[in-house]
Amino acid sequence: MGKIKLKKFLHGGDYNPDQWTEDVWEKDIEFMKYYNVNAVSMPIFSWAQLQPNEDEFTFEWLDKIINKLYSNGIHVILATPTASQPAWLSKKYPDVLPVDIHGRKRKHGARQNYCPNSPNFKNAVRRIVEEMAKRYKDHPAVIMWHISNEYGPYCYCENCAKAFRQWLKDRYKTLDELNKRWNTAFWGHTFYDWDEIEVPSYLNEEYEYLPGRQKSSFQGLSLDYKRFMSDSLLNLYKMEVEIIKKYMPDVPVTTNLMGPFKPLDYHKWAKHMDIVSWDNYPSIKDAPSSVAFKHDLMRGLKRDQSFILMEQTPSQTNWQWYNSAKRPGMIRLLSYHAIAHGADSVLYFQWRQSVASCEKFHSAMVPHVGHLETRVSKELKKIGDELLLLDEILESTTKSEVALLFDWENWWALEESMGFRNDISYLEHVDAYYRALYKLKTNVDVVDPKEDLTRYKLVVAPLLYLLDEESAKNIENYVKNGGIFITTYLSGLVDENDRVILGGYPGWFRKLCGIWVEEIDALFPDMKNAIILEKPIGMLDGKYECDFICDVIHLEGARALAHYEQDYYSKMPAVVENDYGNGKAIYIGTRPEQRFIEGLVKFYAEKAGVQPILPVPEGVEVTKREKNGNEYVFLLNFNGYDVNIELKDEYYELITQKVLGGKATLASKEVMILRRLKG
Ligand code: GLA
Ligand code: ZN
Repeated sequence: MGKIKLKKFLHGGDYNPDQWTEDVWEKDIEFMKYYNVNAVSMPIFSWAQLQPNEDEFTFEWLDKIINKLYSNGIHVILATPTASQPAWLSKKYPDVLPVDIHGRKRKHGARQNYCPNSPNFKNAVRRIVEEMAKRYKDHPAVIMWHISNEYGPYCYCENCAKAFRQWLKDRYKTLDELNKRWNTAFWGHTFYDWDEIEVPSYLNEEYEYLPGRQKSSFQGLSLDYKRFMSDSLLNLYKMEVEIIKKYMPDVPVTTNLMGPFKPLDYHKWAKHMDIVSWDNYPSIKDAPSSVAFKHDLMRGLKRDQSFILMEQTPSQTNWQWYNSAKRPGMIRLLSYHAIAHGADSVLYFQWRQSVASCEKFHSAMVPHVGHLETRVSKELKKIGDELLLLDEILESTTKSEVALLFDWENWWALEESMGFRNDISYLEHVDAYYRALYKLKTNVDVVDPKEDLTRYKLVVAPLLYLLDEESAKNIENYVKNGGIFITTYLSGLVDENDRVILGGYPGWFRKLCGIWVEEIDALFPDMKNAIILEKPIGMLDGKYECDFICDVIHLEGARALAHYEQDYYSKMPAVVENDYGNGKAIYIGTRPEQRFIEGLVKFYAEKAGVQPILPVPEGVEVTKREKNGNEYVFLLNFNGYDVNIELKDEYYELITQKVLGGKATLASKEVMILRRLKG
């Protein structure tokens, strides 16, 4: 395990000294000190500069800059450079290069362009990582390891096919079992030899149904290939970690994750990380709730720990369609947003803007102009100064009474499955329910359905289509023991191999929700229906529009809360509540308009005894972190105007270092970090 030994808010970013001459390094150090930078991540993509050929290592430049940084009080998040291999490696060992989903062998270039199951790639990775770990194991500058960079792309080569067959043997033991689990009798897919199993690509089972929407004609195989690829990349990461831990067992390791990144099952990954870290790149159009969701998802990977914000951009990116400048006050507000959700750092990509290549117009802490007298640099300086005041909240944790269940395997299966609606975006539906929880003005955990749920008062699981028996039991027990559970259409339907739970929808949740869904009707995008409440629910009353999917529901013990207005299922239940054990399960059989979702979630949250952390106006976000019996309340004003707030208790505000109580004003884009005063 291991914790970061530097007990300070990490401030700094990705540093690429090898892109610059040494006279620039001097200027870098001077600027870093001005900003109060205390940590930089490097040498992330420098494999070629560290190993010019198979037999030679050139660490001298790295030694020099690490020493220079350290003697100036700047620590290093030491990165393994394995995200982009040197050209000589790809040239000498062609199996290093991956095959894409179209079946095309890739050529050397770009980055993250390797096969995770290539023996030659693994050997080369082992070597460079071992050299690095040996060399820096006693260096006091090193406070954390950053393994590779943004693991991601899948490979479809023959080495992967071989490894996949072995992975399947380990998982299913016999071909009979595999044939059963994948339902291979369908379309004559029965396998008689392991070698007959091909990787699913655009050459066989996969196809692009609509631009950007991949579907599979053979779900069992496609789903397992995603698990296998996520595992293959994870094994590569674990291989590096193992080497590093031999030399530096106490220095924490991480890799920079990417929020809701579909290809990798981060719930599995996080088990092998000492600290979760991630890269946050919202556009100026992203709602604060959507950024909050990503922070909560990342914190939820290790929910009792703080996390590291490894990258964000001071202003523009280069890779979004429109790369707007961050508006005045926004980078500061977004930095505090991360901290409010559990981050112990403000780190940027990148330190100095590159002179050429695709990221040259990506913003940086040191812009092309070469000085720090810019609007953005001034804001960064202010953040750097303020972070010095926050050390007391380091490693404080976030306790939540409400949770949203999120699952990668479910995401894969739901979107790649054919049927009902082929345009499902899991994240879009999840967002609707997260927003409802966000409006409760309380902390929200976003967690794996396998987590212990007993600590929560309310659990929401939108479109939880795929579950294994363990997760289904976990949810059932939570409700049995008094929990309130809200789920929706397209939930509970299939097992871990995407096989339908026979005997009536919604499968795993039929008994729990006290219903039978006889039909699942899909609406065209221009079709609508409405739900009519049987009686008021909290602030909700009357009629609300609905669309997307309409479940045709029969009650089997549940009570109808609302029924459909139109169509052949008019007057039939659309939303139901069921008493189960000491708890309640609520099933929403259609997509109602947002104000209904928010009203319903609020009603059940209140019923469960969930209180806002502080009652604050619309557009103000509130979260809480705790440490050593102290409570830290964060207020962030995302509105374009100032708001008045009412503080019932007395608080110490960490940034202004003032005691506040009673009436206070929170200016637009401003933040307060309030420690509740005791007594
Ligand atoms: C990612 C990468 C960085 C950089 C940034 C640009 O997060 O990890 O190397 O490319 O994107 O936004
Ligand atoms: Zn491969």
